[in-house]
Amino acid sequence: MGEAATAQGKPDAPELVWREAVRAEDAEAVRALVAATAMFTAEEVDIAVELVTERLAKGPASGYEFVLAEAGGRLAGYACYGPTPATVGTIDLYWIVVSPDLQGQGLGRAILARTEIAARRIGGERLYVDTSSQEKYAPTRAFYTGTGFAQVAELPDFYRRGDGKVIFVKAI
Ligand SMILES: CC(C)(COP(=O)(O)OP(=O)(O)OC[C@H]1O[C@@H](n2cnc3c(N)ncnc32)[C@H](O)[C@@H]1OP(=O)(O)O)[C@@H](O)C(=O)NCCC(=O)NCCS
Repeated sequence: MGEAATAQGKPDAPELVWREAVRAEDAEAVRALVAATAMFTAEEVDIAVELVTERLAKGPASGYEFVLAEAGGRLAGYACYGPTPATVGTIDLYWIVVSPDLQGQGLGRAILARTEIAARRIGGERLYVDTSSQEKYAPTRAFYTGTGFAQVAELPDFYRRGDGKVIFVKAI
């Protein structure tokens, strides 16, 4: 499934507008978007917003880069990534989120594709991402394996007892 099948592929769906520059209003837009997925704790939502405010405050020195997609003037999805300090070519995908009403239509795949291109531009050779082993995150894990990531590790009880950390990697 390519970009033609993204949200804009729906007859009445608004065009997607892409950008990498973060704006002040993205902090609250990211908060609303991440909270709307109902997948993250309040603490995790705060962390997602903090990456935006860090980027706004420090620019590229923050280590946080963004790919943002807007549809109809609102944030439809985004990714936040950045080079892992003290590595050569390793990029961490910190967040990738699609608005619940637009999930399953190829937008996550399109955001990831743009993230990979942008990550290569900053010397990225591989993308690492991790998520929870909880059943609730099975669709998230299916997204990673469905977009070319390989599961390379599982750290049992990492987040809390019964909730492990699953690590994926993709050569880019
Ligand atoms: C994970 C997420 C970013 C994926 O974005 P999306 O737009 O829904 O995914 P896409 O439609 O681009 O799917 C791409 C591929 O992933 C796989 N996939 C996606 N959702 C899936 C699901 N629910 N079950 C099985 N496979 C799935 C499929 O292989 C799919 O390809 P296909 O449609 O050609 O079969 C999005 O669902 C989301 O925001 N989820 C909640 C937040 C989250 O968990 N984020 C990741 C942690 S930070």
